Formats: sequence, structure tokens, C-alpha cells
Amino acid sequence: MIPLEPTASLAELAAERPARARIFERLRLDYCCGGAQTLAAACADRGLDAATVAELLEAIERDGPPADPVEERDWARAPIDELCEHIVSVHHQRLREEMPRIGELTATVARVHGEGRPELEMVERAFAALREELEPHLAEEERDLFPACRALERQGAAADLDLATVDRHQAEHEAVGRKLAALRELAGGYQEAEALCSTHLALLTALSEFEADLHRHVHEENNILFPRLRGLIAGGG
Ligand SMILES: [Fe+2]
Ligand SMILES: [Fe+2]
Repeated sequence: MIPLEPTASLAELAAERPARARIFERLRLDYCCGGAQTLAAACADRGLDAATVAELLEAIERDGPPADPVEERDWARAPIDELCEHIVSVHHQRLREEMPRIGELTATVARVHGEGRPELEMVERAFAALREELEPHLAEEERDLFPACRALERQGAAADLDLATVDRHQAEHEAVGRKLAALRELAGGYQEAEALCSTHLALLTALSEFEADLHRHVHEENNILFPRLRGLIAGGG
């Protein structure tokens, strides 16, 4: 195995071996919207030792559990059509299932425990705002962007997809990423030990899983799909 370079970007490292995203998530290293930063810089920012983190990343390949074939698929080399299908059937589907459920949990927790705890209502509102931003974004991807990606794969640069559209989607991801980080902060970092009741515990667990899946989803779009689209639009394959 090639030793892992601390000068590689988090996006490259996660795109090469998707299982690494789990470690990045656990260490709170932003591999999705902040994926351009190098492992060394990201670790320095978080006060972590890059060599130790590199060892951890190498160890999961050596000693980790058997890989989940869907999660571990090398999307960087899969047909764009299949990557789009995966994003919709796994990540968009999960969001559509989870967003109403989490919305209800935020409302229940704010209603039951909100007195003297204004941050619980702020979590409810912050989640609702995030959901309002995500729903039309998902719909637009399914209606316009992904069909255009498939056409681009078939027809190359002749297809009707331009760089400005790809850049706009990426900017929307950045806005979502900022809201997601603010939500985590408002909710006290999703510390399960701080849960006020079993509903609050269910909410914190759900938000933490929601965040991890959204990071993976945005990573697959920003760092795998979009660079391929930019290459095809430029005519370079
Ligand atoms: Fe998406
Ligand atoms: Fe997206």
C-alpha cells in the first residue's frame, strides 16, 4: 500500500477510500465543503497530529470491518448515471424519510422542555430552515441537474449543462454546510449525555446521523460528481 501523504486533500483521500469518511466524521475533519484542505492543514486546525491520523486512516484498511459494498463502491470510476442513481436512491431517499421525523422530534422537544431553554426552539427553527433549503435543492437535482449529467455523459460537451449551474449547486452546498454547522452548535454538539429525555436522545442521535449522511452526500456531489462534470463540460472527458 502507498503510504498516505499528509499533503493530500481530505476530498481526495475520501474519494479514494470511502471508509476514510467515517474517521473524518468522527474527528470532525470537514471533508465535504472544506475538502480542498490538506490532511496536514485540517489536522493542525483541529489540534490533531497528522501522522497519528494518517495511521488511523491506514489502519481501517488493514484491520477494519469488511466493507459495505454500496458504501465502498469506487464512485470516482463508476458511470455518472449510476452515481446519480445512488445519490437519489440512498441519500435523497434517506433525507426524505428523516426530515419529517426529525422535524417532529425538534417540535416535541421544544414544546416539552422549551421553558427556560430557548435554544431548543432555536434548534427547531434552524432545522426547519435547513429543510426548506434542502427540499427544493433535491427536487432540482432530480428534475434538472441529474438528467443533464446523464446527457453530458452520453453526449459530452454538446449537452446542455454549463459550469455556472455546477458552481451554483456547489454554492448551495456551502450554504447548507454552514447551516448544518450552526445547527450542531445550537444543539450542543449532539452530546448524548446531555439528553433531557428519551425523545431528546432520539433527536440528538437522529441529527448526528443526518449530519454524517449529508456530509457523505455532499462529498459525493462536490468532490466526485462535480469534478467529472467540469471535465466533461471542458471537453476533457
Ligand atoms: Fe443531492
Ligand atoms: Fe446537492
